Amino acid sequence: MIEAAARAALFSLDPETAHGLSIAALKTGLVPGLGLRADPRLRVQVAGLDFPNPLGMAAGFDKNAEVASELSRLGFGFVEVGTLTPKPQTGNPKPRIFRLVRDEAVINRLGFNNSGHAEALRRLTTRTKAGLLGVNIGANKDSPDRINDYVDGIRVFAHVADYFTVNVSSPNTPGLRSLQSRESLADLLARVLAVRDAQDRRVPVFLKIAPDLAEPDLDGIAAECLAQQIDGLVVTNTTLSRHGLTDLNSASEAGGLSGKPLFERSTIVLAKMRQRLGPGVPLIGVGGIGDAETAAEKIRAGADLVQLYTGFIYGGPRLPSRILRGLSKICDREGLATVLALRDTRTADYAGRPLPA
Ligand SMILES: Cc1cc2nc3c(=O)[nH]c(=O)nc-3n(C[C@H](O)[C@H](O)[C@H](O)COP(=O)(O)O)c2cc1C
Repeated sequence: MIEAAARAALFSLDPETAHGLSIAALKTGLVPGLGLRADPRLRVQVAGLDFPNPLGMAAGFDKNAEVASELSRLGFGFVEVGTLTPKPQTGNPKPRIFRLVRDEAVINRLGFNNSGHAEALRRLTTRTKAGLLGVNIGANKDSPDRINDYVDGIRVFAHVADYFTVNVSSPNTPGLRSLQSRESLADLLARVLAVRDAQDRRVPVFLKIAPDLAEPDLDGIAAECLAQQIDGLVVTNTTLSRHGLTDLNSASEAGGLSGKPLFERSTIVLAKMRQRLGPGVPLIGVGGIGDAETAAEKIRAGADLVQLYTGFIYGGPRLPSRILRGLSKICDREGLATVLALRDTRTADYAGRPLPA
């Protein structure tokens, strides 16, 4: 009841104001601890890290690293903060987030609004640590050397991050996604991994890719990731496609689409990457997860771990614990000793599908 009222109140506000209130509510620490008991069948050990469960908060919710520990207390096994850029930047003019309620989707064109490395670092070094922390790094819009911005991110956060995500897939920074081309990626990964290797802690580095890539693009990314022995991929960011939307009013807004309508596309790309990379490379599946069944389906398509953001807007603070309970029930139902027994059971099916228009 209270939750339904809270959601109605938040949905009566402009989405960015509502987001600010959610962050403020989390900061008070008043959001209830949910008394969830850890299920050992949900533990996932990949990239040298021990995840208490496979469900993470995706990048973009906690751009400035303000509430990572509070989000962990809601049940998330890991939280990815950012995207963080070296210098603070304000992003695009408002309004720049749009809810498509009927489609359980969002379009955003924020453009990496964030408070910059220094402020986020201060927060992360003084916080009470709870849960695993990913730091998602990006480049300033006006940067003269974008690759150097990623290199800076690794240097700055190497002693606080459990893993890094190199985000080259936001559609809202002009030209950023061209870093996914094989030639640019070769240079980017070489420089990022070299600076990572020069730190005294070895922090795994993941690459986050777009869902709007054709088969030859996926070939090039997979080959380069294998050649440079990247630690994993996050698949996928938001899409420029408007396929499957019924809310045609907001559909014409520019920006990246997330939520339910992204599920099929991002899951197909995930499975195609699993096939190209083989069983050994960790994959984080993200895009359109809204319940335990969609989370499990990402794992069946090839994910070791999953993340969500838009589902949290529609599902509220109890969604992570609901999903974890649901994953435990799937383990009960199917007699699984570990949730990862689901992995790759439907990879061939998804990988064989054409990408929606
Ligand atoms: C409002 C909003 C802001 C986002 N900002 C970022 C970001 O800064 N960096 C990033 O890598 N992804 C960002 N994303 C993408 C999400 O991390 C995720 O990849 C995408 O939304 C698909 O997952 P979902 O359908 O569960 O939302 C953002 C998404 C939304 C909705």
